[in-house]
Amino acid sequence: MDNESVVLAAPLFATMDEDERHSLVASMVKVELNRGEVLFDEGENGDRLYIIEEGKIKLGSSSGDGRENLLAILGPGEMFGELSLFDPGPRSLSASAVSDSVLYELEHSALVRVIEERPAVAKHLLTALARRLRRTNEALADLVFSDVPGRVAKALLDLSTRFGERVDEGIRVAHDLTQEELAQLVGASRETVNKALADFAGRGWVRREGRAVVLLDLDRLERRAR
Ligand code: CMP
Repeated sequence: MDNESVVLAAPLFATMDEDERHSLVASMVKVELNRGEVLFDEGENGDRLYIIEEGKIKLGSSSGDGRENLLAILGPGEMFGELSLFDPGPRSLSASAVSDSVLYELEHSALVRVIEERPAVAKHLLTALARRLRRTNEALADLVFSDVPGRVAKALLDLSTRFGERVDEGIRVAHDLTQEELAQLVGASRETVNKALADFAGRGWVRREGRAVVLLDLDRLERRAR
């Protein structure tokens, strides 16, 4: 494993010592995905969870008429695919790669064994689930209470915490999302999201670079996101 430490930092390994971590990782299977590749579809049966070592995974759902909504873009060290174990049922969202990605998969039955052997792991998994619920609640409130530019500012700041890289002028966020995907994440039309980004760029808050954006004025963006 090249970036093993990223995977070992996931909540699943929180209470283990070196040897235990390595033996659990050794029982996981490496999965490589190319950009655009679908890992699983909403509604499928699934019996494994994934931890991201490298890349970006989008989690989303589509409506009957083909519209799509993105719930999250996850990055290195984050886990997904565990809900269908905790609440037996089909996959609640679809998962696909936004950029070339490397994941490690673990069968649900192996997770059950880990939890039975060390109940403290469950606490760390609950913390991760609680964080996700808070984040989702906030996104839901923003859909109701915030305007599109506010949501765009928030999405950029959120993406910067996962994928941002410090550069002289600010933070460069190589999000790899198409305009359509960014709009699906914000929950607005591509045109409105584009307008908001163009407005931010005109004010000197961001600079757009294809599938990346450089955040130039974090203070303004944070105020706009509130
Ligand atoms: P599962 O239902 O097995 O497959 C889809 C996965 O998406 C799910 O497990 C969770 O791991 C993840 N997921 C579901 N809802 C959210 C959300 N609101 N935010 C981030 N991840 C989610």
